[in-house]
Amino acid sequence: MPEFDFDEEIDRRAVPALKMHKLVLGADGMDLFPGGVADMDFRVAPAITDAIAKRAAHGIFGYEAVPDGLIPAMTGWYATRHGWQIDPAQILRSPNVLNSLAMAVNLFSDPGDGIIVQPPVFFDFADIIAENGRRMVENPLILRDGHYKMDFDGLETLAADPDTRMIFLCNPHNPVGRVWSREELTRLGAICRAHGVLVVSDEIHADITLPGHRYTPFATLSEEDAQNSVICLSPAKSFNIAACCSAFTIVPDPERRATFQAENSRLTVNKNNAFASVAMEAAWREGGPWLDAVLDYIAGNLALVRQRLAEIPQVHLIAPEGTFLLWLDFRKLGLAPDDLTAFLRQKAGWAITRGIAFGPAGAGFGRLNIACPRRRLDAALDSLAQAVKAL
Ligand SMILES: Cc1ncc(COP(=O)(O)O)c(C=O)c1O
Repeated sequence: MPEFDFDEEIDRRAVPALKMHKLVLGADGMDLFPGGVADMDFRVAPAITDAIAKRAAHGIFGYEAVPDGLIPAMTGWYATRHGWQIDPAQILRSPNVLNSLAMAVNLFSDPGDGIIVQPPVFFDFADIIAENGRRMVENPLILRDGHYKMDFDGLETLAADPDTRMIFLCNPHNPVGRVWSREELTRLGAICRAHGVLVVSDEIHADITLPGHRYTPFATLSEEDAQNSVICLSPAKSFNIAACCSAFTIVPDPERRATFQAENSRLTVNKNNAFASVAMEAAWREGGPWLDAVLDYIAGNLALVRQRLAEIPQVHLIAPEGTFLLWLDFRKLGLAPDDLTAFLRQKAGWAITRGIAFGPAGAGFGRLNIACPRRRLDAALDSLAQAVKAL
């Protein structure tokens, strides 16, 4: 018996889990294979449930300070796992990563300013930019020979516009699964510094890398790059605690940090949640072996997808380097986005995230979450194979 049982089917509908909820699946889609929302169907590390149970047993949940051990647990994790020594003085709390991104937009750009994104990319970037009255400036990734790259020439041109103030970097990149290399990030960092474009780097997927790939924290490139960045971190993805954690914003530049801190204070986002605190501390202090086992299991699920897709030549997998999200190319099926969604739902029984949600370049693609029990994934691949055959 392995130490952690990721094959276990757990009824997530016993709680209002979004991934299985009618809000996401649609009232007519409750029986579909839920491969959308980016969390895992695995029970969290025992250390986390133990810490929460112990905290619950205490029985009093009045106002609390941040536990003394939390920030050391966090900095210890990034130092040992990723070789990044985070200066505790640079760490600010935030309710979640999207909040950190929205705060950065509001504080360090003005209405109408351009913010660069590199689609296909996490759809909430576009919403944050639009809802805060900024302009999204697209520098699409280049897909060549089944591999996505950044368009550095395009980036240089867009960054040179004085109205472009910021870039949202997704490192690693949801949904195409790139774990950007040090060389790529260094090039991006240099272009942004040369043109006064602030790098806001969303590193929520940092820990989820596949064998042979290593996450490079943007702030470790150079002191100059660190000073020209705002980094958004959270243990939500790595430890499957999105509903029970907070996020952290690393702001190395002292002036920007003071501005950020003042805004946190003005909006009173500094309150502490007792359960989130103990969950995060337990995750970072004791969750390593669980995460390693999850990464193994995800690599196994990926191997299964590769093996099964070899029988379905119309569906092509973009080889991922990280995240538990696969970017599938369905273009050979020749279906328009709405028809592809209808085909996947009605014929294959799949509810995955539409590729078009990540920008026009996502048309004909879909994002499949493989952080689920293998048997369920295998059954879903059976249904896909049959549906494609019958098409
Ligand atoms: C790249 C990226 N950033 C942010 C988030 C959401 O983060 P949070 O729940 O902390 O706002 C997600 C969730 O899917 C994500 O993929």
